[in-house]
Amino acid sequence: MTDTLTLRTPDDWHLHLRDGAMLRAVAPETARHFARAIIMPNLVPPVVTGADAAAYRDRILAALPKGADFTPLMTLYLTEDTDPDDLARAYADGLITAVKLYPAGATTNSASGVTNFDKVRAVLEKMAEIGCPLCVHGEVTDSEIDIFDREAVFIDRVLDPIRRATPGLRVVMEHITTMQGVEYATEGGPDLGATITTHHLVINRNHILAGGIKPHYYCLPVAKREEHRIALRRAATSGDPTFFLGTDSAPHTDANKLLPCGCAGCFTATNTMSILAQVFEEEGTLDRLESFTSINGPKFYRLPANEGTITLTRGDPVAYPSRIETEDGPVTVFDPGYPLHWRVEP
Ligand code: NCD
Ligand code: ZN
Repeated sequence: MTDTLTLRTPDDWHLHLRDGAMLRAVAPETARHFARAIIMPNLVPPVVTGADAAAYRDRILAALPKGADFTPLMTLYLTEDTDPDDLARAYADGLITAVKLYPAGATTNSASGVTNFDKVRAVLEKMAEIGCPLCVHGEVTDSEIDIFDREAVFIDRVLDPIRRATPGLRVVMEHITTMQGVEYATEGGPDLGATITTHHLVINRNHILAGGIKPHYYCLPVAKREEHRIALRRAATSGDPTFFLGTDSAPHTDANKLLPCGCAGCFTATNTMSILAQVFEEEGTLDRLESFTSINGPKFYRLPANEGTITLTRGDPVAYPSRIETEDGPVTVFDPGYPLHWRVEP
């Protein structure tokens, strides 16, 4: 059995780093194993202008451990007031790598998101013209749509119409959770990519709800039925360049998770690579782990793959902290529910 695995250094194409004390606590967790990450802009207030992105990037760089080799790839939060010229300038200057679309009210800190898609038409056309990717949180927000159907309905009602109306727009379907998402992404051609999280390869909705409610497994989009998890595992391990890793590692303090109305998000930055190696091993596709974590993402974003490498070794159960301490209180690390055997060499 293979017990050593060397990969090009991975990238995380969907990451929440937050700000302040939380940023200082979680940035090192990602920088330890990843060379780059697409940084989500859903701060309060959100990152909406090129100047906001520059200031946030500087705060991230200041929060990294000395000597860390990590590049944050910044995004803007698309609002109905986004200025196409400010966006184009920030993209041309290399300040931003993508723009994030949140339907208003879809998830944590998304109140400034888009309600009327006609209002962002000019911005989307500008993005298609300059080649700037749009990262999409793909869930409708209508309260009459069942939460487990919101991704599939979004594809039909919002995503497909936007893509048809804006030829050439490069889109990443973020954190897909359904077989409908896998199918749509598979057939979408070279201008469509899709990220898959670590946790959606591990849990289905039973993990959240059966035998007692598990707030640490609650995230958005919420985990679906087992058949969807299987479709996601097949897509992630297929080698199809459409699919790449976006952990959606989304730290919240335990105090904010363990509430009558707790926050959505799984914190996976600490043990993602160990979990993924195990998932790919279970699927008999360890040879495709590098495509998912280190090759397909840069290809979609038209960036070179990393030159460096990381090495994982298989052995006794890996020790990792069950929570990390922050000045705001502890953050629980995602527990896949079984011991992990792949360790990232320091
Ligand atoms: C994210 C967060 O906490 O910022 N939460 C989550 O459950 N994934 C927001 C998001 O990406 O939807
Ligand atoms: Zn996210």
